[in-house]
Amino acid sequence: MPWLVSIVNRPIAAPRPVSPAARARFDQLVALWTRHVPATDGDGAGDYEDFVEQVVHLEAALDTFGADNIWLVISTDPGTAVNAGNGETRPAADLQLLPRYGTQPSRRHQDVDMEQARHAADYYRYEAFLARAGRRFAVCGFGLEGQGAELGDVLAGWAAEGRRRAFLKSVQIKQFAFPVDLPEGFDPADGSRLVYDALNYGAMYLEGARESIIAQEFVTMEYEYRVFVVSNTVATAAGCIEEFTPLDNNGYLFDNQLRRHRQAKSPVEAEPAIAGILTDFARNAVDALALEVPALTDYVIDVALGPGGKPLIVELNSLLNAGLYASQPIRVTEAMAAREGVLVR
Ligand SMILES: Nc1ncnc2c1ncn2[C@@H]1O[C@H](COP(=O)(O)OP(=O)(O)O)[C@@H](O)[C@H]1O
Ligand SMILES: [Mg+2]
Repeated sequence: MPWLVSIVNRPIAAPRPVSPAARARFDQLVALWTRHVPATDGDGAGDYEDFVEQVVHLEAALDTFGADNIWLVISTDPGTAVNAGNGETRPAADLQLLPRYGTQPSRRHQDVDMEQARHAADYYRYEAFLARAGRRFAVCGFGLEGQGAELGDVLAGWAAEGRRRAFLKSVQIKQFAFPVDLPEGFDPADGSRLVYDALNYGAMYLEGARESIIAQEFVTMEYEYRVFVVSNTVATAAGCIEEFTPLDNNGYLFDNQLRRHRQAKSPVEAEPAIAGILTDFARNAVDALALEVPALTDYVIDVALGPGGKPLIVELNSLLNAGLYASQPIRVTEAMAAREGVLVR
């Protein structure tokens, strides 16, 4: 079974000071990378997490699909696919129907692995999500002049109920996400100002556009955890710890190293009980999503403990472009291969 595997040719990073065993593994990954990916000018000085994520993708693909089954597309030469086994080349355009793995190029913040990424990006419209979000949502815009749900009205409503903070996120993926304060007596006319304060000129492009902003109540989120889902089944998971990569995985499929306060970078600790609660919660959410949105099968679901230690869903993201943290990516490729019917290993 052939696969189209996309790799971003990040420059090779310097190893991090680690144990001899971890160092040996890193060196092995660099050797594998050098066999398949052309050298770049920055080699030796690349960003560590960026490089490790790409080489771990490549390793998982090779181990699971087999080199002969891989048509490798390197980001700097997107028109050419190279067979990872025999070096044969073909136009990537001829292989667009193959199942895909690896980082997908994005255009205007839209993932190219369209269908799954699009369904994941619509998460805030799903009942299965909203029932487990632990906070209210409203999709709105600003400067609409009565043509649709207005951000200022939504926020003024929450402020009048005593909510003192909200969280605003763009409907368009990865454009922006930031918290805002809701002072007492918040004026609906202040909705636009909040967006302009945060985005400056960027706000101009959104003004008057309906459904451009996802407004949410602000709630505490602790121990954020990313669960990787293939064929509506959880495959692996890890704490949202920015500086962690699969090389930090502690041997568990559901890595139990967690960070209580993601933004404040509080210490990382093993928290098996919390990891268990979050995994169970994610499984339940995945089942509910499968029933409600059958077309959505592959994605990552970020979960956390909300107020009172009650689990909630943070968001859903596209599977192939999600940061890996200390997960076991080979569990994802194995689940994908099992679905295609041929497991090479
Ligand atoms: N409603 C909310 N209240 C408080 N914090 C939030 C809220 N939503 C998200 N966050 C925090 O902001 C981060 C980014 O939000 P997220 O929805 O994951 O957007 P992004 O697409 O930028 O990753 C989350 O990891 C979480 O720490
Ligand atoms: Mg996120």
